Formats: sequence, structure tokens, C-alpha cells
Amino acid sequence: MATKENLKVVELFAGAGGLSLGFILAHQASIQFRPVLAIDNDHQSVASYKQNIEWLLQNAPDILPSIPRVLKRDVEKLNVAAVLRLLKLKVGELDLLIGGPPCQGFSSANRRSKAKSKEDRNKLINIFLDKINEFQPKMFLIENVQGVQWTEPTQDMCLVSTQECLFPEFENRPNNVQKFLIKKASMLGYHVWYGVLDAVSFGIPQHRMRFFLFGVRSDLISNPSVVNLTPFLELLTSAQQVSVNEAIEDLPPLENGQNWVGEYHPGNNSYVVKMRRHMNNSDLYDHVTTKHADYVIERYKKIPEGQNWKAIKDEMTNYKNVDNTHSNIYRRLRGGEPAITISHYRKSMLIHPVQHRGLSFREACRLQSFPDWFRFHGTANDQQQQLANAVPPLMAEAVAKAIGDLWVKITSECWTEPTEAFTPEANRRDISLASA
Ligand SMILES: C[S@@+](CC[C@H](N)C(=O)[O-])C[C@H]1O[C@@H](n2cnc3c(N)ncnc32)[C@H](O)[C@@H]1O
Repeated sequence: MATKENLKVVELFAGAGGLSLGFILAHQASIQFRPVLAIDNDHQSVASYKQNIEWLLQNAPDILPSIPRVLKRDVEKLNVAAVLRLLKLKVGELDLLIGGPPCQGFSSANRRSKAKSKEDRNKLINIFLDKINEFQPKMFLIENVQGVQWTEPTQDMCLVSTQECLFPEFENRPNNVQKFLIKKASMLGYHVWYGVLDAVSFGIPQHRMRFFLFGVRSDLISNPSVVNLTPFLELLTSAQQVSVNEAIEDLPPLENGQNWVGEYHPGNNSYVVKMRRHMNNSDLYDHVTTKHADYVIERYKKIPEGQNWKAIKDEMTNYKNVDNTHSNIYRRLRGGEPAITISHYRKSMLIHPVQHRGLSFREACRLQSFPDWFRFHGTANDQQQQLANAVPPLMAEAVAKAIGDLWVKITSECWTEPTEAFTPEANRRDISLASA
């Protein structure tokens, strides 16, 4: 039997580990992704990542043969040379660098945040590209919100470059962040593919549009047109959507503010079975819902499935400018359909399809495709933020499988052995942005 190829993965801005988990779950006959290092600057996210990796190591060692280092660090100050020494790798030897830099500045959920702090957070996506330049991995993957398509790059996205400014003239810079990322990655020596995907297409009970940019170092392949994940992703999409009901119907009913304890009987539909992969007991955690004031519950009772605060507009007397209220506020999910995008759902007050209460944390985890054994650290607020930040693991699993399939194609059809140390200067190409 042929041995599996282990691809070493480093993740920056790793959060609680949704993206990493997808790569771990995507083990295939010939390819296994092996996270060797994950970095985040939030200690609760780091604690969540570590705890769940340890759980996997104990309960599913076949899919996680070794434990990655998980470090609390600021990516901006990361010393890549020291990291490579730690991993016993040279520049250019890492297989895959992945990450979802913070995206508040491009996100429609945060339209009102202050311009300056947006710029600060937006520069991190540019820093990710600088880190690509320092690691020079064979492949990279950036995940972000679809707002990169219509957000203009800020001035510091040109200036913040560890090596040099790639776009010296402001006027010549691409007019949105997506084009900026594609152009800069190409100039760093990568053949790229990009796309906006909806989580619902990969069997996740939620509409969640996410931008992915993937690249392969140009010195490793003889045929650039091979860098295309679309045909592999198409094979993984499912025409049948998973509804909110299918995802949560086996979870016991709750009262307002209840933390469920008792005997639980897991459901047997294929989604619930997937959510309980690798578990050999009927434990159920975090099925707990926030206690809301009685008047809030009275409002909930008047909102039909699929509707929001507009159904009770006259009662929203405590909202200053009610017409500007976000459409997710007081939103009751429709049981028979996939959910809307799960953001920090306590802030937006998502309501159970038929029970008069907010969603429980486990229900939100199910809608984000986090398995039932996965736990988050910190306060309720910290946990919900980590959950809202995450790439749904099943979506990440599909993208990872597509990358694995493409890697097999590359190594069998158009691999070119790197003869000398890779230098980005030697591989820079100026690509036309006409198609971007
Ligand atoms: C969108 S979340 C990533 C979620 C992750 N991809 C997942 O699937 O769970 C962005 C993460 O970047 C982290 N972060 C923000 N600024 C950072 C910095 N300067 N250095 C390291 N991590 C940072 C945040 O703590 C947050 O966990």
C-alpha cells in the first residue's frame, strides 16, 4: 500500500481552530494535512485550539498523528526565521501556509466601526502576504469575508510591506482588496486561484459567503493553468441543502436561560451523525441559552419563523433609530431552511424556530458545523466571538480536500523540481488584472 504524503501546515490567525479542523478532517487516501504550528494573539482562542487538538489526539489519533505547537503571538511581530528553525525547515520548505486574518474592516456586520481601527485591522491581511514572502511556502490559502471584493485598499496596505512597497504609486493600485491580494500574491511569485463560496453548498446548514485565495509557488509547476480548485470543489458540492431542523432537531427543548443537563439521545440523520464523528458516548455539552428579560420573550412570541424586529416594530420603543436596526436583530430562524450567517448571535438575538428563546450555544455550533465534542474557552462572550470568527469546519474540509486533490494532480502531471533556493524576484510576474 502506498504511504500517505504528509503536508506540513502552519496557520496564522488560527482562532479556535475551525479552519485547521477542516484540514485535519480532510485526510484522504494519499494525502494528510499535518498542522505543525498555529498562532493567534488571543489567549482564549489559543486555549480552545489546544484543548480540542488534545481531544483529537486522544480520541482520533489516526487523523491527527502528532500535536502541533500552538503559540500566543502577535503575527505582526513574528520572527519567521526563528519559527522555521523551531520547525526544522528552511525557507521554501513549508508545504502550506493558511489563515483568515481579521476581517472587521471588510465586513458588513461592522459597518459602523471607526475608520482608524478598521485600517489597523485591515493591514493584517497585507501582513499575511508579507509572511508568505518570508516563509515562501509551496502553497498558501487566505480566507476572508466577501467584502474584500468591494472594499478599497487603505493607504497602509501599500506601505506595510516588510520587504518593499509593491505599489509605490497610489493611483496605480488596484481598486479593491481582492484585486490587491491577487496582484500582490502574483508579484510574490505565486500562481493563484480565487473564489467566493457559500458554506451551504458543502452541506452546512447556513448561508455564509467566504472569499478564498489560494496560490502555488510558480517555480514548482510547469503549467500555471493547473492552479484551479473549481473542478475539485464542484465534485464536493451537494445539491441538497441541510436545514436548521435537521441540524438541531435532536437537541432537547430548553426554557429561557436554561443550561441543559440530563440524558440525551443523539439523532440519527446524516448531519447529526457527522457532528458526532469520533464520539463514542452520548455526552452533550454547552446546550445553554442566555436568560432574556420577560418583555424580550413576549416580543419573541410575536415573531413568526423567518421574520425579524420588523414584525414588532411598534414595540421596539427602546431602540433609538429603529429603522436603522440590523436585519438580524430579533431574527427567528426558519426551521425548514439553512440558517442565515451566524455572527455573534447573542448580540444579534437569533431566535429558535419554534421555541420562544434565543439559540443555545450548541445549536449555534451545529449551524457552524462544529462537532459536538468541540469546546470553546472563556466567557460566554469569548466563546461566541470565537465561534462567529470561525470558518465552518465542514467548509474548510471541502476546500482542504480540493487542495489535496490538486496537489496530487500537480505532483503527477506538472511538477518541476526546484533546483536552487527559491527567490521571489526570480519568480515575479506581472499578471494582467483584466480577469480579476
Ligand atoms: C477571523 S479570526 C480566525 C478564525 C479561524 N480561521 C477559525 O477558523 O477559527 C481572526 C483571528 O486573528 C486573531 N488576531 C487578530 N490580530 C492578531 C495579531 N496581530 N496576531 C495574531 N493573531 C491575531 C484574532 O484573535 C482572531 O482569533
